[in-house]
Amino acid sequence: MTVGEKEKTVIIGVTGGIACYKAVELVRLLVKDSLAVQVIMTRAAMEFVTPLTFQTLSGKPVATETFNLTQESEIGHINLADSADLFVIAPATANVIGKIAAGIADDLLTTVLMATQAPVLIAPAMNIHMYENPILQENIRKLRRIGYHFMEPAEGYLACGYEGKGRLPEPEKILEEIRSLLRKKDLLGERFLITAGPSREPLDPVRYISNRSSGKMGYALARAAVRRGAGVVLVSGPSAIEPPSAVRLIPVNTAAEMRRAVLEQFPECTAVIMAAAVADYRPVDASSKKLKRGKAPLDIRLEPNPDILRELGRRKNGKLLVGFAAETEELIANATRKLHEKNLDLIVANDVTQAGGGFDGDTNIATIVDRSGASDSLSLMTKDELADRIYDHLLALKDKHSDGNS
Ligand code: C5P
Repeated sequence: MTVGEKEKTVIIGVTGGIACYKAVELVRLLVKDSLAVQVIMTRAAMEFVTPLTFQTLSGKPVATETFNLTQESEIGHINLADSADLFVIAPATANVIGKIAAGIADDLLTTVLMATQAPVLIAPAMNIHMYENPILQENIRKLRRIGYHFMEPAEGYLACGYEGKGRLPEPEKILEEIRSLLRKKDLLGERFLITAGPSREPLDPVRYISNRSSGKMGYALARAAVRRGAGVVLVSGPSAIEPPSAVRLIPVNTAAEMRRAVLEQFPECTAVIMAAAVADYRPVDASSKKLKRGKAPLDIRLEPNPDILRELGRRKNGKLLVGFAAETEELIANATRKLHEKNLDLIVANDVTQAGGGFDGDTNIATIVDRSGASDSLSLMTKDELADRIYDHLLALKDKHSDGNS
């Protein structure tokens, strides 16, 4: 893979889990993709696979010992750390994640990791109960906050005999993530205003009207933008997802609060990506006291919420506007109509009735439509991948605009 002019170097840290055998295939794929691969193994990893296997595939001696004089004089742990364009740990055990989170560097892998300035991608693989252990989850949250990238383990049959989440993702998937992290920072200088999650419209102090949006698409957009060099303000309705630390998060509840925050941030941004599922209606009078149970039917009068995106479309000011259209019928026709009505540059249409598309899942099936009527129908992909595709389209539009103006 030629990203920029120079050959990129990826360190693959292999720790001691049964999924080590998949790291062998990963190294083979990376070498095939013209990447320079340096493998570092922990002691436990060497119980599963021999260094010779990795050495043969990577064409480089495998680094294993901090205190081995030959290895230290020939490679050197600081040189190793400096050589990396990306540091990947696959598979990552609960143990190594715990050590990294605690700042422990007691073997070569954790020492080099401590010294590297390269981005780090961690692919955990372990028994489902280990993965769900709150200590591990807390460690992952902490590392994500600091800026470490994580891959979600895959679900399925685990070597320990259990079924569930804990499998190392397939090597092809890890390769894709590596490719994406090695991409150049093509969004440097951009400042994106992204909205995410549902809005909550109160009925009384304890109840609200809302929808099934999890915020996953908006947060995937925020992560991808940061990874590609953009500054991000994320205006988010309630969501359980942690944003990357580089993102400025403005939490909101109602559509009215979201509107206020978005209008305030609008002048400073270069593009708005409106992924939030804003409630179309809100109760006319939210009661200040908890509504009492009664025998008679309860009527709730609803009034329309302001359409934030439409409002931005009116004042546009040279900014790019991206909307989402969750549809259940006439996907492209409805999305194209919204694109023009709201004066958008791109609309991401998805049929929420399709399996794997829409609310709450990790995947989506979308079609990206622009003002010229061109549409790109994408197959099922993760929301992270979709976020990258949306930015590729946005960049292509920017290029077209600047060509037109020159
Ligand atoms: O018209 P519809 O609600 O389907 O349009 C969806 C798009 O408009 C999404 O990008 C959504 O974030 C945005 N929207 C908005 N304000 C609303 C409703 C939707 O900005 N009140």
